[in-house]
Amino acid sequence: MKKALVTGGAGFIGRWLVKRLLDENVQVWVIDNLDNGKEANLAEFKGHPLMKETVFDDILNRDRLQTLFREKFDMVYHLAAQINVHESLANPKKAYEVNVMGTYNVLEECRAKGTKLMLMGTCMVYDVAHADGAIGEKHPLKPASPYAGSKLAAEILAESYHHAYGLPIVTCRPFNTYGPFQKSNLEGGVVSVFVKNSLNGEFLNVHGDGSQTRDLLYVEDCVEFIHTASKSEKAVGQVLNAGLGKDISVIGLARMISPDPGKIRLVPHHHPNSEIQKLVCDYSKARALLNWEPKVTLESGIRKLRQWLQNQCVSA
Ligand SMILES: NC(=O)c1ccc[n+]([C@@H]2O[C@H](COP(=O)([O-])OP(=O)(O)OC[C@H]3O[C@@H](n4cnc5c(N)ncnc54)[C@H](O)[C@@H]3O)[C@@H](O)[C@H]2O)c1
Repeated sequence: MKKALVTGGAGFIGRWLVKRLLDENVQVWVIDNLDNGKEANLAEFKGHPLMKETVFDDILNRDRLQTLFREKFDMVYHLAAQINVHESLANPKKAYEVNVMGTYNVLEECRAKGTKLMLMGTCMVYDVAHADGAIGEKHPLKPASPYAGSKLAAEILAESYHHAYGLPIVTCRPFNTYGPFQKSNLEGGVVSVFVKNSLNGEFLNVHGDGSQTRDLLYVEDCVEFIHTASKSEKAVGQVLNAGLGKDISVIGLARMISPDPGKIRLVPHHHPNSEIQKLVCDYSKARALLNWEPKVTLESGIRKLRQWLQNQCVSA
């Protein structure tokens, strides 16, 4: 029976990955310091015979990681990260420590045991998409925030471990991911925030003029991508994008979600210099290598998210 470690497993995407692995009869360990995750995200897996251990600790705690790696994992999924662009602008040191030094710690443990690693990157490392084309893996890079810079530094460090030590590493760069379990407060993703505000009859605040676009990937498609990539021999040493392959402007998204145009308002952008004006994914490499394609349309993903948020309110 396979053993997997998920760093950041109590977070939004981590929770769905844990579920996917358990569904596939993989034994799962999690490390998460709950900086942005929640114990409740994993509550439904408590007592599951394959849910082996959930360690609420920091990946910067090297001793704890060393003890954890005595398990001899078949696969490590490294998702733990400081993910907030705004916070990274205010506190770049934290982004550096968690995203670069934290990844270094995970890489060192994988190197010591020869463990395969799926490294979670991000589409935020790319330069803006041109009007006529989507962003493939060879698209120019332009990390415009310490978040993006630290994630890219982590990727490059991991690449060096692949070349220097032959460590099997797959780097996944999903585009903006949304769905149930994502935070819907100010730190949450734009889709979750808009759907929650719309359900509560609150304003949908669009930062800037709303013409910036996003390629929005439903979380179960994202997890299927990571999971398929992690199992593929062909993906080792590769960087792979995943997204819907279509973008929508943030103002367009607000109009799609809110039945009341009067509830949509433009507000000044927090960090205009770190904005990427157009993001649209070219996932043809993932399709060719992994036979992966997104299955959930934006409309149906938003419906699933709305339903989940409504149920949360009812059960709260
Ligand atoms: N959500 C997206 O749109 C998106 C898109 C592309 C890539 N990603 C990447 O996917 C990964 C997961 O993102 P998410 O959206 O689920 O975010 P998230 O914040 O919900 O998950 C990250 C988890 O890491 C944990 N964590 C943070 N610092 C830690 C530390 N020092 N030690 C241990 N755990 C720590 C947090 O508590 C959280 O549970 C991140 O690496 C992120 O960069 C996210």
